[in-house]
Amino acid sequence: MQIVNTIQALRALVKAAKMAGKTVGFVPTMGNLHFGHIRLVQTAKSQCDVVVTSIFVNPTQFGANEDFGSYPRTLEADCTLLADGHCDIVFAPSALEMYANGTGQSTVVTVAGLSEQLCGEHRAGHFAGVATVVSKLFNIVQPDSAFFGEKDFQQLAVIRRFTEELAFPITIVGVPTERAADGLALSSRNGYLTAEERAQAPAIYQILSQLRQAVLNGQREYTMLCDATVLHLQKLGFDPDYVAIMRSHDLQPATTTDQQLVILVAAKLGKTRLIDNITVNLAI
Ligand code: PAF
Repeated sequence: MQIVNTIQALRALVKAAKMAGKTVGFVPTMGNLHFGHIRLVQTAKSQCDVVVTSIFVNPTQFGANEDFGSYPRTLEADCTLLADGHCDIVFAPSALEMYANGTGQSTVVTVAGLSEQLCGEHRAGHFAGVATVVSKLFNIVQPDSAFFGEKDFQQLAVIRRFTEELAFPITIVGVPTERAADGLALSSRNGYLTAEERAQAPAIYQILSQLRQAVLNGQREYTMLCDATVLHLQKLGFDPDYVAIMRSHDLQPATTTDQQLVILVAAKLGKTRLIDNITVNLAI
């Protein structure tokens, strides 16, 4: 596995791979990797000849009161995991390499509408930061396919949308969420949970599964279901940002005639913000 820090060095490696007729898969990350990331690498490796993983804690997607400063930087451990996972190239640029004109650069990719709801309502500017850095990484790596976890369902929707609308010739692949045995979705931020919070956190997935069953059983009072779930989460000690039942293809509020749904939750537990989702197919 090769580790490079500059755009120039990365481009040279990708160019050589392409000249040799190889396809390139790309897994963008912010490091502090867990098995969910390794699953992305494995999926990329099963579909492409060469896998590039980027590790970059992107400052522009963190709000002023968020965890940019404390976000774990674990490059050495990450590279060990990636080498074991058969990643071929790691791109670990500095902030200066990625933002030569500073993080206040004038060019920003914004996906209007999709970015302002759900998590976007609670994290102003977050998805513009994600869309801008991922666009930039796409231009740097120029992969054939890029792989993202479905845990960040809204992020995946934003990335699919700008990839299509800006005509990036890249196939976006969503990879199912990896979960701990008790159902908690794997996340780099789970490490912030205290032992007590960690024991409490799987309640989110249990509640999502119950909501899914209620919808499968014919419940269609979506607003009422979500409001009741917010209260339930509060009683369990969570501080919910939202519970929402949306159409999965465009993340618009689900109506009673929609058949492909996604139920999304974001809630704080102590200092940790947890997000999760579950899809519901009413067509079968
Ligand atoms: O999902 C993440 O880890 C980040 O949002 C991403 C896609 C690497 C962009 O910084």
